[in-house]
Amino acid sequence: MKIKGILSDALGAFRVSKVYKKAISNASSENVFPDPIGDLAKKLHPGPLTLRLIERTKIVEGVFFLTFEGVDKAIPLFRPGQFMTLSKRIGTSVLTRAYTICSDYRKRDSISILIKKMGGPMTETLSTCPIGETFLSEIGLGPFFYEPLRDSKNVVVLVGGSGVTPAIAMGYDSKEYDLTILYCTNSEEEILLREQLEEFTKTGARVVYIIRDGSKNIPCEKGLITAEIIAKYMGEDPTFFVCGPAPMLETVKRELGKLHIPPRRIRMEVPSVNVSAGALPVPTREIYELTLHIGKSLTKIPARYDETLLTAFERAGIFVHNACRSGACGYCRVKVLSGEFFYAPTSDGRRHADKELNYVHSCSAYPLGDMELLLDIPHDL
Ligand SMILES: Cc1cc2nc3c(=O)[nH]c(=O)nc-3n(C[C@H](O)[C@H](O)[C@H](O)COP(=O)(O)OP(=O)(O)OC[C@H]3O[C@@H](n4cnc5c(N)ncnc54)[C@H](O)[C@@H]3O)c2cc1C
Ligand code: FES
Repeated sequence: MKIKGILSDALGAFRVSKVYKKAISNASSENVFPDPIGDLAKKLHPGPLTLRLIERTKIVEGVFFLTFEGVDKAIPLFRPGQFMTLSKRIGTSVLTRAYTICSDYRKRDSISILIKKMGGPMTETLSTCPIGETFLSEIGLGPFFYEPLRDSKNVVVLVGGSGVTPAIAMGYDSKEYDLTILYCTNSEEEILLREQLEEFTKTGARVVYIIRDGSKNIPCEKGLITAEIIAKYMGEDPTFFVCGPAPMLETVKRELGKLHIPPRRIRMEVPSVNVSAGALPVPTREIYELTLHIGKSLTKIPARYDETLLTAFERAGIFVHNACRSGACGYCRVKVLSGEFFYAPTSDGRRHADKELNYVHSCSAYPLGDMELLLDIPHDL
């Protein structure tokens, strides 16, 4: 291209923009180019959708099996073992929580989860709200699923208590791999969804109960999970999928260590960040102030020293996109403009660049004083 000089080149830019303006005003508002891959991607992953609660069954005290249908979209694809989120405005708060999907991945008209009442706001709502209540949802999240390129075909799902849910979802997929389910409970009565588990044994899955108190009625291993019990059932080169309460995860980690299972063969469902108040630095105040830059506006909200920044946003009714709540996915990322924070040490999934530029995953950061934060413009529920 010939350089004519600053003035004529700058004026040339105006001439080009005129040509562009004319082309834009004459253009169709429809996308005229065929995009079969984009169309398929939209169909398979339609983004957030509204779910309507259609059935709630009490399994035992405080544990419910919930089924939802899509309000105006079919249930999108997910991999057995993955989780979904439910978001809802409840009172002045706006809450999101993660739930492992425990229905058949081939069903497109409904989707189910198992919830255990924890005394928190979302499980209270899910266990008492009227049938027909709607929630915003994202479906098919997280890396907790069998991937033939990565995992061995010998799959051992090691679960405890209400963490049985991924074993149920993976049971529907058991023709894809050799499935052994090791299910730990305190007593026989605490075994959840037993009928469904027994059903999977008809299609080749093996289910072994490990019951702390033992059982007179069903064959089981008595006691807590140990390396010896795992070794007895794991077979050749297993890939482990582990889900259960935090103390069980610690025990399993230790016992798998004794068996020298390589880390690439262990997948653990990571629970939401929850640092106890005693493990946090001593606070100077109970409540700090967060100044939030959202677009051009400034908003000030309170934040408890013993709750994450994400919980402060939720309590203030400010929706910040989030999913795993365990520091891994990065959806809840915000920029710290000023102020000190404590970062949950076991859930630091930040990229190096994020650390350099002072971004935090707000589900994993606790305020240590007043803070100033930059947020993406949130969309409402
Ligand atoms: C990957 C993954 C999968 C999971 N799968 C399941 C599953 O299959 N089944 C299941 O039951 N659970 C599952 N969970 C746990 C689930 O996401 C919730 O944490 C659990 O249901 C409890 O939710 P809750 O709101 O009742 O209580 P919590 O999440 O424990 O909430 C209590 C906390 O919320 C905060 N809080 C209290 N009041 C408010 C308010 N008004 N506004 C904002 N915040 C407030 C406080 O910090 C309080 O400590 C999973 C979690 C993860 C990370
Ligand atoms: S919600 Fe996934 S990192 Fe915070």
